[in-house]
Amino acid sequence: MRRNLSFTLNGAPASAEVEGEATLLTVLRADLGVFGARFGCGLGQCGACAVLVDGRVEAACTLSAASVEGRAVTTVEGLGTPEQPHPLQAAFLELQAGQCGYCLSGILVGAKALLDANPAPSRTEIAQALDWHLCRCGVHNRILDAVALAARRMREAAA
Ligand code: FES
Ligand code: FES
Repeated sequence: MRRNLSFTLNGAPASAEVEGEATLLTVLRADLGVFGARFGCGLGQCGACAVLVDGRVEAACTLSAASVEGRAVTTVEGLGTPEQPHPLQAAFLELQAGQCGYCLSGILVGAKALLDANPAPSRTEIAQALDWHLCRCGVHNRILDAVALAARRMREAAA
């Protein structure tokens, strides 16, 4: 059965007519044309589809779209723009912390949730927070470096 779904997407109202069983990832990509969150495993095991729901990291590939009714969803598109990138995006670019890039939108979202909760994470804490996210290109060291760089820059900017 189709139903109307309304929620906040990257700070703006969003709505769609969705199938009752639709996942959030399907609604984002197929109904709303928001392609940052990616389909990887489809099983909640790789992090390619990660989004924030009310600030908490969720796997959009297994999350029921109906469950975000009235809630705030953030995808990588909500972090920054090419003109004004989020410090995480700027650090990933600066350190070239990506290869194919398929994993990166999920990793950036996961890293944002980490830095929102812990502005000064250790390297171990960064690795633990991002452990769920699989990167097939093996860019892990640069990813950890980039998150640490962004955290340092954000602390300096807030000081
Ligand atoms: S595609 Fe959602 S966790 Fe892999
Ligand atoms: S950069 Fe290719 S999967 Fe991570």
